[in-house]
Amino acid sequence: MGSYEEIFRSSVEDPAGFWLRAASDLDWHVAPTRALDESNPPFYKWFPDGELNVAHNALDRHVDAGHGERAALIYDSPVTGTTRTYTYAQLRDEVATFAGVLRDQGVGHGDRVVIYMPMVPEAAIAMLACARIGAIHSVVFGGFAAKELAVRIDDAAPTVMVSASCGIEGKRVIEYKPLLDKAIELATHKPARNVVLQRPQAEASMGADDVDWAAAVATATPADPVPVASTDPLYVLYTSGTTGKPKGVVRDCGGYATALAWSMPNIYDVGPGETIFTASDVGWVVGHSYIVYAPLLAGATTVLYEGKPVGTPDAGQFWRVVAEHGVKSLFTAPTAFRAIKKEDPDGEYTGQYDLSGLKYLFLAGERLDPETYRWAADLLGIPVIDHWWQTETGWPVAANPAGIELLDIKPGSPTRPMPGWDIEILDETGRPTETGVDGAIVAKLPLPPGAFPTLWNDEERYVNSYMKAFEGYYLTGDGGHLDEDGYVFVMGRTDDVINVAGHRLSTGGMEEVLASHADVAECAVIGVADTMKGQVPRGFVVLKAGVDGTAEGYEDRLRDDLVAMVRDQIGAVASLKDVAIVPALPKTRSGKVLRKTMRGIADGADEPVPSTIDDATVLDTLRSVLRRE
Ligand code: COA
Ligand code: AMP
Repeated sequence: MGSYEEIFRSSVEDPAGFWLRAASDLDWHVAPTRALDESNPPFYKWFPDGELNVAHNALDRHVDAGHGERAALIYDSPVTGTTRTYTYAQLRDEVATFAGVLRDQGVGHGDRVVIYMPMVPEAAIAMLACARIGAIHSVVFGGFAAKELAVRIDDAAPTVMVSASCGIEGKRVIEYKPLLDKAIELATHKPARNVVLQRPQAEASMGADDVDWAAAVATATPADPVPVASTDPLYVLYTSGTTGKPKGVVRDCGGYATALAWSMPNIYDVGPGETIFTASDVGWVVGHSYIVYAPLLAGATTVLYEGKPVGTPDAGQFWRVVAEHGVKSLFTAPTAFRAIKKEDPDGEYTGQYDLSGLKYLFLAGERLDPETYRWAADLLGIPVIDHWWQTETGWPVAANPAGIELLDIKPGSPTRPMPGWDIEILDETGRPTETGVDGAIVAKLPLPPGAFPTLWNDEERYVNSYMKAFEGYYLTGDGGHLDEDGYVFVMGRTDDVINVAGHRLSTGGMEEVLASHADVAECAVIGVADTMKGQVPRGFVVLKAGVDGTAEGYEDRLRDDLVAMVRDQIGAVASLKDVAIVPALPKTRSGKVLRKTMRGIADGADEPVPSTIDDATVLDTLRSVLRRE
C-alpha cells in the first residue's frame, strides 16, 4: 500500500490517477472516465461523466454482496432506554420504503427535503431515502430555534419537511413540532407536506399538511435507487459564516462518496464488519460524514447515540457503548472529553467496562488542548488522534492516517495533510510564511473530492468568501502554521466564527440579534476562552443616548432580555449568557471594531494597544468592566 509520504505524494503529483483508483471501489452505474473537470475554476467537478447512487453504495451494494445480515446501524439511546440494531438488509428496506413515502409526497430528483430531527435512526433513514431517489437533503440541527430553521427553509425551498414530535435533551423533552410550525409560519417558502415521526415522549398534534411517519410507511411502496450524476448535489448543509445568513455548503455525490470510502480504512482504520461510534449529531458535518455515510459506504457498523457524554445518566456512557457494541474507533469533540473529565476526573467509570476492543480515539470539531489530549491518552492508553476539518471540506484535511501508519503524535497538532490537501501558510501579502510562523491556512486548488463544489444558490459568495483572498487557493478561515516536519498547527479562526462546545456559531449572527433591541445603539459579540466549552460568546452593548444604564436593576434586566432574544432567535445552542454594558466599543480610526483586542483582554492576555485605535481610553474602561466580574 505504501507509506503516508508515498500516498500523499502520489495524490498531489497525480490527483486524477489517485482518485480514479479510489473511485473504483464504489459501484458506478456509469463509471467515470475522467477524474476532474477543470474548465471553469474555481468551480471544479469531480468525476464529471460518472453516474452512481450513494444510497445504493451505502446499503444495497453490501446486501447484494451477501452481507445483508451484518449490523449496519446500532441505535443506542440511554435517554429512552432503547437499543436497536438494523442489519444492512433491514436498513436498506426501511430506507427504500421511506424513499417511497417521499416519492408519494411528490419529491423527485433534485428536490430538496429539510430534515429537522433529534438523534433517532429515522433521521439517518430520511437522509438515505433522499439519496436513494436523487433528492437533496438539508438537515438542520435540532438545537437551532424556529427562526434559524425558517431562514434555511427559505434558502433551500424544500418540497417536504421531515421532523419528529420531540427530542430528548438530557432529562428534558423538547417538543419539535411547535418549532417546526413556527418556522413554517415565519418562512416565505411553504413546503407542501411535513412528515412527522410521532414519539411517545410527547405526541404532536397534526395539521392538514402533516403526514404521520408510521401511517405513511405502512402503505408506501419501496423505491429503487435512482442513478444520478456524480456532480449532482447529495445534500446542502448550512453552516455559520461571519454574518447572520448561514452558508449552504453543497456536497456532490461521487466525489464525496469516493473521499469518505477512502477515509474509513485509511484514516479511521475501520473496515467491513468493524464498528465506529461517532458521538456527534446528524445536524453537523461530523454526523453526516461519520455517523451516516462513511461507515455505511465502508460496510462497517455505525452507532447512532441519543444522549450526552455526561448526565444521561452518568459519565460512563461512552464506555458502556464501546463495550456493549464492540467499538473499534470512537470519534467525538474534545469538549465531550472535558465534560467527562470534570465529572469523573480519575476515569473511574472506565474500570467498569471492557474497553479492550477500543483501538483509537479521534477528536475534532475544535482545537484539542494539550491538557485534554494528555488526560484522554493516559486514561485510555490508545492513540488519541486530533484531526482537523470543516463543514466545507467534508472530511479531514489534516489527520494521523491510522490505517496506513501511525505517525508520531505532537500534542497541539492534528498531524499531517491528507491526500489532495496541498496546505500552505500565507501572510497578508500572499507570501508563504517561514516554517513555524502563523498565517492564513490555505489549500491549493483544485480541492480533493468531498470538498464543497459551491454554495447553494450563491456562487458569488463561494468565490468571495473562500476563493478570492489568494488566487488559486481556498481560504480555510483558520490561522496557524506548519512545523519543520510538515505538521499542521491550527490556532483558531481568523474571522468572526466561534466554536462553542464543538458547535460552530457566528458572532455576527448574535450581534444582529442584540442590535435589534430598542435600547442598544451598537454592540459586539466575541468568543472568549472557556474551560469546558472551549469558547463561549460574550456580548458588549453600548446604549442609545437617553437610556439610563445605571438605573436600579436595569443592567440585569437588559442582560436577561438579550440572552432570551438570542436563545429565542438563534437557539439554546448559542449559549450566550453574558452581556455587559460599556460606554463605547474600541474601534480603529476608520470605525472598525477591534474584536481581536477585545478577545485578548477578555482572555486576560497582556494585549498590546493597536496603533490604529481611535481612543485608547476605551480599552481601560473595557478592562475595568471585565475586572468587575
Ligand atoms: N436540541 C435542542 N436543544 C439542544 C440540542 C438539541 N439537539 N443540543 C443542545 N441543546 C441545548 C442544550 O440543552 C443546552 O440548553 P440549556 O442552555 O438550556 O442547558 C444548550 O443547547 C447548550 O448545549 P451544549 O452546548 O451542548 O451544552 P450542554 O451543557 O448541554 O452540554 C456538552 C455540554 C459538552 C456535554 C455537550 O456540548 C456535548 O456533548 N458536546 C459534544 C460536542 C459535539 O457533539 N459536537 C459536534 C461536532 S463534533
Ligand atoms: P465545522 O465546520 O462546524 O466542522 O467547524 C470547523 C471549524 O472548527 C474549523 O474551521 C476550526 O476552526 C475548528 N476545528 C475543527 N477541528 C479542529 C481541530 N482538530 N483543531 C482546531 N480547530 C478545529
